[in-house]
Amino acid sequence: MSSRLPGLYTLTVAERRQRVAEAAGIDLGELAALDGGLSEDDAAGMIENVLGRYALPFAVATNFTVDGADALVPMVVEEPSVVAAASNAARMVRAAGGFTARVSPPVVTGQIQLTHVDDVDGAAAALTEAAPTLLARARELSPRLCARGGGPRAVRARVLARPPGPDGGVVVVHLDVDCRDAMGANLVNTLCERLAEPVAHAAAPAGAPRPRVGLRILSNLSDQRTVRVTCVAADDALADARCPGPEVRAAIAAASRFAELDPYRAATHNKGVMNGVDAVLVATGQDWRAVEAGAHAFAARTGAYRPLAVWREVPGGLAGELELPLAVGTVGGALHVHRGARLALRLAGAGDAPRLAALAAAAGLACNLAALRALATDGIQRGHMALHARAVARAAGAPADLVDEVAEAMAAAGEIRIEAARVILRELSAKDLP
Ligand code: MEV
Repeated sequence: MSSRLPGLYTLTVAERRQRVAEAAGIDLGELAALDGGLSEDDAAGMIENVLGRYALPFAVATNFTVDGADALVPMVVEEPSVVAAASNAARMVRAAGGFTARVSPPVVTGQIQLTHVDDVDGAAAALTEAAPTLLARARELSPRLCARGGGPRAVRARVLARPPGPDGGVVVVHLDVDCRDAMGANLVNTLCERLAEPVAHAAAPAGAPRPRVGLRILSNLSDQRTVRVTCVAADDALADARCPGPEVRAAIAAASRFAELDPYRAATHNKGVMNGVDAVLVATGQDWRAVEAGAHAFAARTGAYRPLAVWREVPGGLAGELELPLAVGTVGGALHVHRGARLALRLAGAGDAPRLAALAAAAGLACNLAALRALATDGIQRGHMALHARAVARAAGAPADLVDEVAEAMAAAGEIRIEAARVILRELSAKDLP
């Protein structure tokens, strides 16, 4: 399967579906049914007080090669330019071999909080001693996950506060769980709830007062479940008509250093990364808020908020690296009911959670590269305004065959407004009169 589908953007939606269905080996009827990817009944069963379903554009980014295999990357996003940016950057990177991902084992951490612990050091020592027994109990509580090759991996105690204090002494027990292809929230939360009593018991040896059990919930700072994706973009791929490759390369490296120096810039830089990551997560039915929370906590793990992706000049090009926690699943969650999300996974060829994580991270690094390249050369507004002009032309009632003409005329006049579009439309229609 090749992810190179030149000219895909010039086709109609129906033609595009045909082309993508052929390329991905997916039934055309299934792709055409994407709009009904979630039935009303299923939607009503997913959350509360449902009134209907809310649609967003579902698109595919082209040109991606990740770990030597091509992939069409599904994206759901409301922002213009994101899909084009991802596809363009993936094409630049593709020429140098594509993206390489290193995905860690899918270990998610659950937390069991103990409060009013009189002797926090004694409790922590007792919990460390009891860890093998607690781990064995956790394994008994998750037989199906263990049978799939996952399951609880470690139990650790951390002292968070010493008495006195509003909560007395506070100790938290971390339970690390290999979730295999599940995102893991339900698995880990259930395990934490069931293990809390044995943990509280183990924390109070030899008749010491029993601590109180506090929260029992996974941590979204899943810093053990990370993806590191790298790529190279050569100078000739980075060059544009107005700016030679070495200059673009130097400007992108400088933009990376700006983000490394300044949290105000790092936040925007990371927003550009998450444009790509989130769009893949939404398309594939993932808990993108969990990933967002984890990504920003990870970005701040040194005490300063830092860019998730950095770019360095290398001979003849630019090397990029992105690392972030990515707790994603290809089983469970919304995938039980959302046909559209299941189809997105098939379209991407993401048969397991590591591959999905690799694709989402590659999309993030691609979007970051495209944003920095645009910012370091033309600025992003030129491309945005061209897309915005097309949206305004459509809103003014331009038929499909006139949208580009109206948009270009508005852009040339420097007036991108509905009234201007209507005037241009009237002029074009008058020209057509006999
Ligand atoms: C806009 O959605 C994202 C950017 O602001 C990212 C960036 O500044 O790097 C263009």
